Amino acid sequence: MNIAATPVVEADQTVYLKDYQKPSFLVESINLDIQVYDDHTNVNSTLVMKRQTTGDLVLLGRDLELKSITLNGQQLSEHEYQLDKEQLVILNAPDAAILNIDVVIHPETNTMLEGLYQAASDLFVTQNEPEGFRKITFYPDRPDVLSVFTTRVEADKKFPVLLANGNLIEAGEVGADRHYTIWQDPTKKPAYLFACVIGDLAVLKDRYTTSEGRDVALEIYAEEKDIPKCHIAMEALKHSMRWDEEHYGRPYDLDNYMIVATSAFNMGAMENKGLNIFNTSCVLADEEFTTDAAIMRVQSVIAHEYFHNWTGNRITCRDWFQLCLKEGLTVFRDQSFSEDLQSAAVQRIDDVAVLKAHQFPEDSGPLSHPPRPDHFVEINNFYTATVYEKGAEINRMMAMLLGKEKFRLGTDEYFKRHDGQAVTVEDWVAALTAGSGVDLSAFLTWYNQPGTPKLEAKGEYDAVAQTYRLSFKQSLKVHAKYPNLKAVPIPVALALFNAETGEQYNLQSVALIENGVKDGMYLFDQDEATIEFTGVTAKPVVSLLRNFSAPVNLDFNYSDEALAFLLQYETNGFNQWQATQTLLERILLDGHNADIYIQAIKNTIPNIVEKDPLLASRLFDVPSEGYLGSRIDIDYSPVKIQEQRNALLDTLARELGSFCKDTYLALDPDLQKEFSQAMGVRALKNIMLSMMARQGDSEAFDLAHVQYSNTGNMSERLGALRVLVWNDAPQAEAVLQDFYRRYKDEALSLDQWFMIQAAHPNATEETIQYLTAHADYDLGTPNRIRSVSGGLNANPVNTWSFGVQHFVDLAKYLDEKNPIMGSRLLQALTRWYTLAEPQRGEVKQALEALQPQVKSKNVVETLNSMLSI
Ligand code: TRP
Ligand code: ZN
Repeated sequence: MNIAATPVVEADQTVYLKDYQKPSFLVESINLDIQVYDDHTNVNSTLVMKRQTTGDLVLLGRDLELKSITLNGQQLSEHEYQLDKEQLVILNAPDAAILNIDVVIHPETNTMLEGLYQAASDLFVTQNEPEGFRKITFYPDRPDVLSVFTTRVEADKKFPVLLANGNLIEAGEVGADRHYTIWQDPTKKPAYLFACVIGDLAVLKDRYTTSEGRDVALEIYAEEKDIPKCHIAMEALKHSMRWDEEHYGRPYDLDNYMIVATSAFNMGAMENKGLNIFNTSCVLADEEFTTDAAIMRVQSVIAHEYFHNWTGNRITCRDWFQLCLKEGLTVFRDQSFSEDLQSAAVQRIDDVAVLKAHQFPEDSGPLSHPPRPDHFVEINNFYTATVYEKGAEINRMMAMLLGKEKFRLGTDEYFKRHDGQAVTVEDWVAALTAGSGVDLSAFLTWYNQPGTPKLEAKGEYDAVAQTYRLSFKQSLKVHAKYPNLKAVPIPVALALFNAETGEQYNLQSVALIENGVKDGMYLFDQDEATIEFTGVTAKPVVSLLRNFSAPVNLDFNYSDEALAFLLQYETNGFNQWQATQTLLERILLDGHNADIYIQAIKNTIPNIVEKDPLLASRLFDVPSEGYLGSRIDIDYSPVKIQEQRNALLDTLARELGSFCKDTYLALDPDLQKEFSQAMGVRALKNIMLSMMARQGDSEAFDLAHVQYSNTGNMSERLGALRVLVWNDAPQAEAVLQDFYRRYKDEALSLDQWFMIQAAHPNATEETIQYLTAHADYDLGTPNRIRSVSGGLNANPVNTWSFGVQHFVDLAKYLDEKNPIMGSRLLQALTRWYTLAEPQRGEVKQALEALQPQVKSKNVVETLNSMLSI
């Protein structure tokens, strides 16, 4: 018999929620002394620990050189503790233990961007969520151990900036060349929120007075040349602080709030207490260098990290299974914040688009897991769309069901009960229930089950009786690891429209008392149910899941006419968009005729352009090839999807005719007063421009070239560049060179230059080779990697041909250097099993060939799951 030599993750590496146990020791305080040198860093720590339950004193630590350890003043010898690759166990520890530990670490060679690492020649930063602190020193590195941190940071004076969490209590010199600072954070916190920064950075300063009258110093640290690009982030920070006071009654609690920007960062940003560390891509914003979408993202990430101060930091997670407690709630909060910054309908459209493009596919494939999983091997693999985005949807459903006032009573109760604690999803739902007086416990099922529920609905109109019946049915795909799936509460926001007049029925008068619909909302919480409306005087068109009131797959037998009707008459902008998406999906995947869509869009757009140009632009969204592919579970042919989508775009361009040029020429973003309106006009103009190019209009390239040259705005410049490059216009080479010259020293703008070329529909293996061999390509900067692989992945035809080796090679390389990134990038290939043969077999082979070559828990777990289908 042949026993496969593939490395499987050993069973004992899996952690289970059901095995949770309280920590045996608590840490009352920790004193850290971090001394950074060019070729090593010394970390000395003093932990004051108290026994809480029986059990060993366990400190976690990884890649640390242990120099010395004393317990209550006594040096420990090697037989008094056990040390392995993961932990240090003190044998027979007394109930009160003061430990003093010396270790040496190497941030200067740490490429994983986790723990303390050198992010640039003149910058050291930390990233400790979820389990990075154990790479700095030995510690009970788990979120339910909260402590008071005092931190001394010492380094050469060539690093003038020495930061840590909390208040600066002392600063001074050490000899001629070195200096130090001491910081004290008054709030107890888990180690994952610890941060320090050592570097040479400039700073933008501002102040904010809280509702309680606290005067807070605000500081954003970045490279000198980038300081002018920090103003939008600073405004967003102050706005967020006010917003949390007004909407949740949560003022800020320290005297300073610092943000540090670095390009060496795996994710968007990190909410370390009072000292956020940000990817530059989520801080730097300036119309000249940054696209409108990226500016919106900066504002939402600033808000996100700020909101964590209450939902995540003051109240944290008991264990990492509860990650969506802080992330789901904080994403919901930042989404709500962003709805106030721009067209609320468009914010919802964009959030749902992300959910459907990433979370739905994730949840239908081999990486599917509940928002709160019950086991994992590597927690870093669970910072997923499901935990973040579906987690946010669960909170949105509960908030919507309660309404503003009751939801506020619920969150007030949560903060009152749990401030200063490490809690669970159950605690959150229980507090909401107690505060609001509405039992929400059924929503726990949403947290605990994987998969996107399918919601089947059927409508039946009886013209004689003037009744309209709606019947619902819900179901979930069977999941091997999570049997016993139950029905979930699905809030269905709905409206009825008179198909003849286009008017909306007033549900109060139309709805039957006792049909369960209140304020346009029906809570469907059974396997099946039927409701009936009476007094429906003419045939209705029903609009379901308004504003996407639940994260489900709706199956409703709409006619194309009814969808076109909703596009024109629905008053909810999100559902107008949803109607266009459903209609386009049918045209694309089921071969329906496009005429109805074209007519409806021509009727609708002129009315919307004035009011909400951004919404108008979204109504031209054509589902991406990637999204369309994710809707296909078997015999998926990327090439076929590309052909169908191109054919649709050609039809649209042809049928829209002169509408494109007329609209393009009529619109001027500079005439708009509001940023969000101007952003809409720019978006719409760029779409019109690409349609004109598709029409073969020779003027399109000239207009694009003028737009490229005459603007000082990145969305306009990039929109024009895209049209020229992707259509291989005669001017393409020259503008690419020009763009490079303009932005070669602006890393984030240069990312766009890489991205646009990698995302060329006709990019080839050579294109990718050229980009990855370019002098400005850098495997140490996740943003740069993502610009190429993300660009490549914009075209599934390319992903699934030469892209396969690109992603496999990346995962192999990063497995050792940066396994968090390796695992994430590999996930581009998750849906390999849906491909038609022979591609399916080829990708499978490439993945299997990778298996024996990778070692990190991150990549191994992801790869094993991907292949387990
Ligand atoms: N807590 C961060 C957030 O959502 C997420 C995060 C930032 C993160 N950096 C990370 C998670 C590194 C894992 C690894 O705001
Ligand atoms: Zn977060």
